[in-house]
Amino acid sequence: MTSIRILYDNYGFAKGYKFGWGFSAYIEHGGKKILFDFGEKWDALRHNMKLGGINPGDVDVAVLSHDHWDHNGGLEGFMRENSEARVYLPAGFGGSEVFDAPSWEGALGGRKVDFVKDGLKIADGVYTSGALLSDIGLREQALGISTQKGILAVVGCSHPGVDNLVESLRSFGDIYGVIGGFHGFDRLEYLKQFELVIPTHCTRKRDEILELCGKHAVRGGAGFEMEF
Ligand SMILES: [Fe+2]
Ligand SMILES: [Fe+2]
Repeated sequence: MTSIRILYDNYGFAKGYKFGWGFSAYIEHGGKKILFDFGEKWDALRHNMKLGGINPGDVDVAVLSHDHWDHNGGLEGFMRENSEARVYLPAGFGGSEVFDAPSWEGALGGRKVDFVKDGLKIADGVYTSGALLSDIGLREQALGISTQKGILAVVGCSHPGVDNLVESLRSFGDIYGVIGGFHGFDRLEYLKQFELVIPTHCTRKRDEILELCGKHAVRGGAGFEMEF
């Protein structure tokens, strides 16, 4: 069984979940517990995890889409409570590509992490698109999760374009759906090909997408959960 739950979002959904600008999603797949993005505030993310019966220490794999405050804010707090998870950060984390900044390895407290540049398999049925460069000079990766219906693409802000992130996941299989922040994406016709579209977080054209994709589109929010 595969399941996904939104743990941090601009929109509220389930009772008791805190919500605010940012994104995080929790995925269970093939016995692995995966956390994708960390919202802005660890306290809020932690609250929502506990509410959903998720113990931060039990997460096996943690993935950061891109190095923006509304996605990386809870990363440090998470790593304080979980010293075992494999952590996949996008190449250029900390601005090292753009500003020639010193490595953030110090800030990571000596923790061994993986920096992702190219697409790769993270676990059985779990893939990263690779960290694509966007026009704001920031790399961003998306997660692909195998479901019985095809790959579900999980995206953060989609600065490189939700289409480019999704297409990068196609090498791992057919794409079933996409969930997350689509930012200013406006080639909306592209989204009509998918069986499931969940535009949330920073998606500027959320209402238009929900209308255009009709029964294939679903409204997300903090506490939203789906099983496949
Ligand atoms: Fe964002
Ligand atoms: Fe962003």
